[in-house]
Amino acid sequence: MQDNKPLVVGLAGFGTVGGGLCRLLRENADLVRRRCGRDIRIKTILVRNANKIREVETPAGAALVEDAAKIYADPEIDVVCELMGGIKPAKDLIDKALEHGKDIVSANKALLAEDGLGLFRKARKLGRALRYEASVAGAIPIVEILRESMSGNRITSLIGILNGTSNYILWEMTAGGLDFATALQQAHDLGYAEADPSLDIDGIDTAHKLTILIRLAFGIDYPFSSLYVRGIRDVSALDIRFAGEFGYNIKLIGQVRDVGEEGAPRLEAGVFPALAPKPSLMANVRGAVNAVRVDGNASGPLFFNGAGAGALPTAGSVLSDLIAIARYDRACNTGYDDSGLKKADIVPRAEWNATYYARVMVDDAPGVLRDISGCMAAHGVSVAQMIQKTETGQHAVPLVFMTHETTDLAMENALKMAAKKGLLREPAMCMRVL
Ligand code: NAP
Ligand code: HSE
Repeated sequence: MQDNKPLVVGLAGFGTVGGGLCRLLRENADLVRRRCGRDIRIKTILVRNANKIREVETPAGAALVEDAAKIYADPEIDVVCELMGGIKPAKDLIDKALEHGKDIVSANKALLAEDGLGLFRKARKLGRALRYEASVAGAIPIVEILRESMSGNRITSLIGILNGTSNYILWEMTAGGLDFATALQQAHDLGYAEADPSLDIDGIDTAHKLTILIRLAFGIDYPFSSLYVRGIRDVSALDIRFAGEFGYNIKLIGQVRDVGEEGAPRLEAGVFPALAPKPSLMANVRGAVNAVRVDGNASGPLFFNGAGAGALPTAGSVLSDLIAIARYDRACNTGYDDSGLKKADIVPRAEWNATYYARVMVDDAPGVLRDISGCMAAHGVSVAQMIQKTETGQHAVPLVFMTHETTDLAMENALKMAAKKGLLREPAMCMRVL
């Protein structure tokens, strides 16, 4: 039965996003009422430390608690909104809340990527909603777009800048001249970074989000643990400068392409830093902004961009899920029958095709250029452009080149050969070009 009594929320987490949600609910209270015909009221907030001094005012009438049972077992609470992060306590809370008949809203991409299928099955079996718009790309409504708006399309590829922190760091290193550590500290201070920022800079957060997007786009289970993941720790100011000279900006991207036949998808998917041509939309995504480009067989290419992290942009997406539940919208979790999603047919990374940027540090001596070119040729890699940057007084000099199309495997083997021949003064840097 549908009625217009307030939707009662148990909120787990009163940090960046939880605080943003409380602020937004207060500021947009009239709008929320007009949008869903009833109020949304936060009754209880679960935190680690209820005595902590907080910047955001506690919502009127809400109690701060440290015992999860006060949320999941309270019969008056309709929805548990999980904004605390982490896998273990968050999963236990959601499991118990579903068993107690609650609907769920979560922004926890780590949990949804690694354990989401079990939770979706459970929610479906119990007839509950499990909504997660805020888990991917902050304010961009990409979950809804893939699940609903593009459901008439066969998706052929998706590429995204999905981590605000990494994009902020790369952008500030490119446009602001900041060093990596300073840019990371700023991203943390602005509320973009995860509690453990290695999730951001090692590409894991992007991989969590990509796993969720693959399910939504293809209705396929591509296990998070099978994704190729590489972060931005080894992207140096030198690479940013050379990429710029070749006409590119470096971006951390998550990408999936269906290279199979119609009805028999084969997916090539991974997370890695890549060179985006400066005139492209992707190359110009600034700061903590996220972007997703989706290609559908009917729509053609679509490009979405907007705030990818931070309190209010993320809270806006959380609130849209609460409003949907307040409207008794029971949209299914992945948009496919997720009681038994098929496992992905995965294209091994060695077979991926692309053009590459590579930088090697070599001795400034006769014959070195020839020897490096020889390693490339030995593995069928054709070099399109090469520059050597000689700086006086330097023992090792950077040799930078762009290749014609080749495979990941050929590139890897060519660079391994150069290392084995003792030509490299430090490990080679190699990135795909978009
Ligand atoms: P945060 O600022 O670190 O806040 C976490 C909150 O959860 C805190 O209030 C903390 O309590 C509470 N908490 C953590 N572990 C708990 C536990 N075991 N028991 C009870 N309470 C616990 O985190 P956040 O940035 O808001 O992120 C929350 C979730 O949203 C994460 O899953 C994150 O990945 C996701 N997300 C974040 C953003 C963003 O821009 N920040 C964007 C999209 C999605 P105390 O306050 O007492 O410490
Ligand atoms: N740490 C994440 C990011 C938060 O930087 O994108 C948003 O999911």
